[in-house]
Amino acid sequence: MRRKLIAGNWKMNCMKENGLALASAVFQKCQQNAPLPFDVLVCPPMSLLAKVAELPHTGAAIGAQDVAETTKAEGAFTGDISADMVVDLGATYTLVGHSERRTMHHETDAVVRQKAENAMKAGLTTVICIGETLEERETGRALDVVAAQIRGSVPTSATADKCVIAYEPVWAIGTGKVPTNHDVAEMHAKIREELTHLLGAEVANEMRVLYGGSVKPSNAKELLSINHVDGALIGGASLKAEDFWAIAETQM
Ligand code: PGA
Repeated sequence: MRRKLIAGNWKMNCMKENGLALASAVFQKCQQNAPLPFDVLVCPPMSLLAKVAELPHTGAAIGAQDVAETTKAEGAFTGDISADMVVDLGATYTLVGHSERRTMHHETDAVVRQKAENAMKAGLTTVICIGETLEERETGRALDVVAAQIRGSVPTSATADKCVIAYEPVWAIGTGKVPTNHDVAEMHAKIREELTHLLGAEVANEMRVLYGGSVKPSNAKELLSINHVDGALIGGASLKAEDFWAIAETQM
């Protein structure tokens, strides 16, 4: 049985004051409703990671949004933050391979895989993001593109407890557009199939596959009821505690 994961990706948002207020409000909801029948993850920007992790957060995990590509825990890598450093700050999860990293920082599947390996080695549960562009969808290549991203980005050492996949169609991120239920179901089934080829049926059946891209309170229940959808990666709506919680609450 795959336990659902409700994850918030704050991206490059929140200064100290509103970030801590947002995190506190989410953590309070988690505490008030404990024990939760799903997992909650909050991924603040690196600037707030340590402070957010210092807040009492029973029932919620803290994650980074990225880790360095180098396998070294420390060294001459200006501007980078290693997976070990993220662990040192109190994170237990990280995202890697978000489409904004792949696009703006030209991260290839090989880079994403290396980051995922580093993160898992450091003990972080690693959310590997994949997803097709609008052009790839419109030219009928979405399933093949995503299958190739799985083969290229997911380490063969990945285990179901240390690795999560997040399917995020690039054209659905921050746009208010979501794929049809049919398209989500088809893609998630394809992802499960690719994971089975790569990791074997046992691991693939246990590994969570999230949907991300314009998830909001009004569409969360429906999206999260689709077969093989094991949670949500939420951007914009995770910046308001009441919206994030309204999404989570659909799984109570
Ligand atoms: P969105 O972002 O919910 O704002 O579409 C999702 C993501 O990029 O993880």
